[in-house]
Amino acid sequence: MKELVTVRDVLPFLSRLTEEAGQVLLSYFSGSFRIERKGGDETPIDIVTDADRVSEDLILKAIAREFPDHDVLAEETPPALTGSRWLWIVDPLDGTVNFAHGLPLFCISIGLMHDNVLVAGMVYDPLRRESFFALRGEGAFLDGNRIEVSQADRLDRSLVATGFPYDRGTAPDNNVKEFASVVTRVQGIRRAGSAALDLAYVAAGRLDGFWELKLKPWDMAAGMILVEEAGGRVSDRTGSPTDVYTYCVVATNGKIHDPLLKLLI
Ligand code: IPD
Ligand code: CA
Ligand code: CA
Repeated sequence: MKELVTVRDVLPFLSRLTEEAGQVLLSYFSGSFRIERKGGDETPIDIVTDADRVSEDLILKAIAREFPDHDVLAEETPPALTGSRWLWIVDPLDGTVNFAHGLPLFCISIGLMHDNVLVAGMVYDPLRRESFFALRGEGAFLDGNRIEVSQADRLDRSLVATGFPYDRGTAPDNNVKEFASVVTRVQGIRRAGSAALDLAYVAAGRLDGFWELKLKPWDMAAGMILVEEAGGRVSDRTGSPTDVYTYCVVATNGKIHDPLLKLLI
């Protein structure tokens, strides 16, 4: 059994792992795959493909091989938590709807928590071969080069992103009201379809801010630590510090955080 000696050890492990899982996604993306509806008639737009499952299988087996005493929370597998101090949080394919339509915008997202604190995260975009990595206290990096959030300090000069929950057709709290209040106040707004990439792009200064309701831990874990380590701010919609279980995540360069929050409350 291999012990994780320091959190720093996760970088080579995650680099190899996301590269391999990325190859899996690319081979399905350029070939064919089955698409299943996850929620039946309740949420018919929530789908899963062979690529999600095979990528997750590869990632979970590698974590179990390297760190057999660690816990894992992954999107496509029911959790079997043992109370380990280490928790890996895995989205094997973030942007499944894009993927299923042939839209080239998706990624793999893996976060690592120790004693409930995010300590590392990687978001890997296999199409652009971009690897976003953050380590608690050490900074955020894109392909090994340090990244920082943007300097935009006004909403009307900001490019922000959001997304809509899968139950948006039936649930009243579907982000449409929030979208309407922000869209007229910012320079631009995007709904790219991958929350993990949205967060990585806030960390890299490509977006100035992002918010979304009802995300799951695997959508946010890696992206949250990326934004924090890139000098940004992550909170819930009241402005309080938050965690991967939050109902509404708001992540910005810090400078536009309060003005954005005002529009979301
Ligand atoms: C989804 C994406 C999307 C967000 C959804 C997520 P998935 O993840 O991150 O951008 O709006 O809420 O569920 O299903 O593609 O892994
Ligand atoms: Ca996701
Ligand atoms: Ca997913």
